[in-house]
Amino acid sequence: MSEIGNDRTLTILDLAQMKNRSDKIVCLTAYDASFSALLDRQGVDVILVGDSLGMVIQGRHTTLPVTVDDMVYHCRCVAQAKKRAMIVADMPFMSYPTPELAAQNAARLMRDGDAQMVKLEGGSHRAEVVRHMVCQGIPVCGHLGLTPQSIHQLGGYKVQGRESAAARAMLEDAQILQDAGAGMLILECIPSRLAAEITESLTIPTIGIGAGRECDGQVLVLHDMLGVSIGNLPRFCKNFLSDASSIDEAVKIYADAVRNGVFPA
Ligand code: KIV
Repeated sequence: MSEIGNDRTLTILDLAQMKNRSDKIVCLTAYDASFSALLDRQGVDVILVGDSLGMVIQGRHTTLPVTVDDMVYHCRCVAQAKKRAMIVADMPFMSYPTPELAAQNAARLMRDGDAQMVKLEGGSHRAEVVRHMVCQGIPVCGHLGLTPQSIHQLGGYKVQGRESAAARAMLEDAQILQDAGAGMLILECIPSRLAAEITESLTIPTIGIGAGRECDGQVLVLHDMLGVSIGNLPRFCKNFLSDASSIDEAVKIYADAVRNGVFPA
């Protein structure tokens, strides 16, 4: 666990300090109270109520059918059971097409769901939305690389930013999101060298998933790292339960591996 005590909820300022101290940020997804409490007692810093719940909870084929109501419900379940971890909630597909709609939907996630930060997918074309939300006092996390809400445009779950033009564009997008006021950035399925360059160039923390070990923190989908997801595990994922005698121990092994810089390998 980081230096920060156990008795209060972490904030985006704590995460920024962790980046400055080079303390790795441990993040996992959760969607209900029991797992929220478990992650919290094992010292997970950030609980992401991801729209991955569409796949791992609802059994849908993509994240696209998830609604704001779904997110509010799961967010509240998670929020009620944790003490220290910061809660980030995904803005679902088409819940942020304009700055005004984005702010209204984010307000629901924060007011009714108790989220402390909301996450949205996309680069420079989201700058106006991010700026408006931040002006309303809504902390925003960006998400670049493999953005599952655009899966039908991307044509599948594959590594992004491999070509140099795409890598340059992603570096620019990251800077634009930070300049618009984003307080954190998820980097999904991109080459580790690119993730390292983005992490180095930003003052806000980056959290990687399939993006190498140089990010400021790591996130995995809980059901994937416990090996209970339907279908194949993503290649970058590891089943932490297979070496553990309990789910608590699996989460602890993951948290230690992230903090010690040994995951991802
Ligand atoms: O929805 C989710 O769980 C996510 C993570 C995969 C980053 O966005």
